[in-house]
Amino acid sequence: MASSMRSLFSDHSRYVESFRRFLSHSTEHQCMQEFMDKKLPGIIARIGDVKSEIKILSIGGGAGEIDLQILSKVQVQFPGVHINNEVVEPSAEQITKYKELVAKTSNLENIKFAWHKETSSEYQNRVMEKKVLQKWDFIHMIQMLYYVKDISATLKFFHGLLATNAKMLIILVSGTSGWDKLWRKYGSRLPQNDLCQYITSSDLTEMLDGLGIKYECYDLLSTMDISDCFLDGNENGDLLLDFLTETCNFTTTAPPDLKAELMKDLQEPEFSIRKEGKILFNNNLSFIVIEA
Ligand SMILES: C[S@@+](CC[C@H](N)C(=O)[O-])C[C@H]1O[C@@H](n2cnc3c(N)ncnc32)[C@H](O)[C@@H]1O
Repeated sequence: MASSMRSLFSDHSRYVESFRRFLSHSTEHQCMQEFMDKKLPGIIARIGDVKSEIKILSIGGGAGEIDLQILSKVQVQFPGVHINNEVVEPSAEQITKYKELVAKTSNLENIKFAWHKETSSEYQNRVMEKKVLQKWDFIHMIQMLYYVKDISATLKFFHGLLATNAKMLIILVSGTSGWDKLWRKYGSRLPQNDLCQYITSSDLTEMLDGLGIKYECYDLLSTMDISDCFLDGNENGDLLLDFLTETCNFTTTAPPDLKAELMKDLQEPEFSIRKEGKILFNNNLSFIVIEA
């Protein structure tokens, strides 16, 4: 690895911008919306049975867009029932955005929100000091387990917090996605950092099997339009390439042979398809539903 390559996580504002470009050039959130519309109602059908309040724990809730979709489905399923929604999120910026979104969204009257500026392991350490552990009716971890150090211990801990009839939803990139191929082939040649792990749903289901935790896994198709990555000097393409490689300024700092090989691979069928003149990277997502 050339010494000039550095992790995208070392430049927070560039990371946030490249993530924003990823969201606007992928069907990531549309894919999640489809799952929330079609599958979630069945999954949460019994979480609030005979309960006066439904307790929801969001781990890594980000700016809250997906969290609010989940909450609206719970409201429909359990009309009028009070909801307590707590968010564990280490980024102050994300919490501010989440609060702004809540402030401008209507129909949230029966929902109480609380935000904890901490990581999942800080949350774990904090609540472990209490005598009685709070149980939850729905826990979700959406596109965030990459940032957790001991994933297996985290799964075990949060699984133990599920109340009767409760469910846990984890969303990660699928083991069939282009990410899996990219990380396997190039992971060791891209900047290493201890903030993010290359894991897919295949790794996660293996861990759940090892822990003896039952789950169901649904895969949905999603794509990321990476056409701009192949246009020289295109700012959007450069940011998308940074997101793909988790490298800050990949285009200008990657060794030429690595760049040439990766750019060629990104156009291969294991990574992407060509449709209507666009190059669409395989961003398939897995939705893993865990029972109490
Ligand atoms: C890719 S974003 C996903 C946000 C949101 N769930 C979504 O899908 O739009 C990952 C989020 O996890 C948060 N995060 C990172 N490390 C975390 C940790 N150790 N515990 C909890 N959240 C974490 C980040 O701050 C970020 O908001």
